[in-house]
Amino acid sequence: MTAATKGEAADRAAFLRDELNRHLRLYHVEDAPEISDAEYDRLFRELEELEAAHPELRDPESPTQRVGAPAADGFAEFAHVVPMLSLDNAMSEEELRSFDERVARELEREDRVEYRIEPKLDGAGIELVYEDGMLTVGATRGDGRVGEDVTANLRHSKSIPRKLAGKAPGSVSVRGEVVLPVARFEALNASRLERGLDPFANPRNAAAGSLRQLHDVDTDRLRALAFFAYAVGEGLPAKVKTQDGAVAQLEKWGFATSPHASVCLGVDAVIEAHEALLAKRDALPIEIDGTVVKVNALADQAELGTLSRAPRWAIAFKFPPAQETTKVLGIEIQVGRTGALTPVAKLEPVHVGGVTVSNASLHNRDEIERKDVRVGDTVVIQRAGDVIPQVVAVVKKKRKKGARRFRFPKKCPVCKSTAVRLEDEVVTRCPNLDCPAQLKNNLRHLAGRGALDIEGLGSKLVDQLVERGVVTRLSDVFRLDSEKLLELERMGEKSAANLVAAIEKAKSTTLARFLTALGIRHVGETVAELLARHFGDLDPLMAADVESLAAVEGVGPIIAESVAAFFADARNREEVKTMRELGVTWEKTEPAAPRGEGPLSGKVFVLTGTLDGMTRTEAKKRIEAHGGKVTGSVSKKTSYVVAGEDPGSKLAKARELEVEVLDSAGLEALLTDSR
Ligand code: IVH
Repeated sequence: MTAATKGEAADRAAFLRDELNRHLRLYHVEDAPEISDAEYDRLFRELEELEAAHPELRDPESPTQRVGAPAADGFAEFAHVVPMLSLDNAMSEEELRSFDERVARELEREDRVEYRIEPKLDGAGIELVYEDGMLTVGATRGDGRVGEDVTANLRHSKSIPRKLAGKAPGSVSVRGEVVLPVARFEALNASRLERGLDPFANPRNAAAGSLRQLHDVDTDRLRALAFFAYAVGEGLPAKVKTQDGAVAQLEKWGFATSPHASVCLGVDAVIEAHEALLAKRDALPIEIDGTVVKVNALADQAELGTLSRAPRWAIAFKFPPAQETTKVLGIEIQVGRTGALTPVAKLEPVHVGGVTVSNASLHNRDEIERKDVRVGDTVVIQRAGDVIPQVVAVVKKKRKKGARRFRFPKKCPVCKSTAVRLEDEVVTRCPNLDCPAQLKNNLRHLAGRGALDIEGLGSKLVDQLVERGVVTRLSDVFRLDSEKLLELERMGEKSAANLVAAIEKAKSTTLARFLTALGIRHVGETVAELLARHFGDLDPLMAADVESLAAVEGVGPIIAESVAAFFADARNREEVKTMRELGVTWEKTEPAAPRGEGPLSGKVFVLTGTLDGMTRTEAKKRIEAHGGKVTGSVSKKTSYVVAGEDPGSKLAKARELEVEVLDSAGLEALLTDSR
């Protein structure tokens, strides 16, 4: 393999990880996804294939190896006793059949395997913990190991029993899906639009968003949530031997479980049931996006086992995207953060897969030309639990005579600069860095959770700030004061003061967050983290040439070019300087020891409980920066268990295996000594 292709693969992998991580956060933490599930799956599979072809690119932190996204700030962390996993997908009958063949082979089963099939409810996965029959904790899935404790919010939902019915063992944990019925979803969005708030993309995001309300909690939204239980994490009576039996037990305890589930013998019966469910899909009061196929016998499940991300005894057999026809009322051009001009079809509102759709992306110039979409056309659109529905095709027979071909504009619709399209790119861009549309999107990005996380600087406010000329470049955000803010519409004294405080707080950040905030092309959170760890501070990074940038692990030539070009631009350097002068600071990052090398190399840590003075994620990063490794479960190979407050069962396990236990101070001492 040549160095170039290797570098390209590394680049692509870094790009994909970044994109996937960003979309995971948008989906799981911000409840505001930007791309469809289908698009996400495509990116995910591309990364999987790349990692398979280039083993040197494998990384335990890759989204292909993890579940969901880390818990968001604001809620207490809750460590799941048994990890909450994800599911692999089968996109076609063929993929389902190969799953069945693998299962039969591994179980050495000659006859048909028994499966339980359940609708795949499109909501938010949660875990409920009951002690002596009483609800004690309700938590989101988070990254599968640690979720957010949303107990207080969950208590408002009528479908979550406070107390288990009948006999229950001392400790029970129940998993299931929280969903928002489609009718409630549509009503919620209508009222959000009325109040000037952004609507939720789909019922799933609305459900997850409702659960995650931190301030001014809207209890009506919580009451509208429905919970369907589908698994027992802990506390299943030993006499239960099947998935079907587990669900029956859940019902005895007083939980609603999903209707339209059944036990099927063999893969053909599964396919039949899947198709019957698909036929009912649009008539159901809640959104479902496929069938979950589970090996019914628990002993067989145990034999098949689980991988880090998903069990090997279950698969999500996805529905094909829901399609519908409607009319194109207009075609608008939107300007993105990097100036990309994206054509969007404005549609006559139509119900697709249970949700009303009125916009669809046409992606780019080639796409709209290839499909030849014209205003007034009748088009087929589709969504697959999708966020931004797509125009699949034009129904040419229905085209009105005289309908004119769409002409892609030569100018940016916002600032009127002449649009450019580079030879090897599909996107057409507005080249004007001062274009208000770009500035708005850059500002939203800077204020976003992965970047400076400025609470209260939302989309609508950004629009006003830019439109009124209060902010004309990114750094102006650090000049905002109450006086300037109070001139804006719908801005009271209290909100203004809160925002000023939030901006002040955001000024003390980390190098990685600052780099993310700058909005350099191809530099998302992951790449920013790599750069920050490698260079330790901004000045050496700004001085680095393309070669030394490309030498950073995980950074390939395209990213290196982009970073070098960004800092070569005098205006960008000026912006950075201004931001620093206005008080933006970050701690120097401890430059990384090469992976696995360092004073703690060879040492394996397990973290449990709430640590003093640092989050577990920070602790993990610092241990790794010193060459140590952090794993999830205690074994004989574990060197230290670091136990904070309220440690879980891991502490007991450490004692049992006589593994050395450290408290937070002990870990701190170890990290300091080993410098
Ligand atoms: S079983 C270990 N059953 O789909 C098995 N999950 O894409 C994992 N989901 O995280 C879960 N309906 O939130 C299971 N009947 C069902 C489900 C279901 C929806 C969700 C769940 C899971 C996600 C995986």
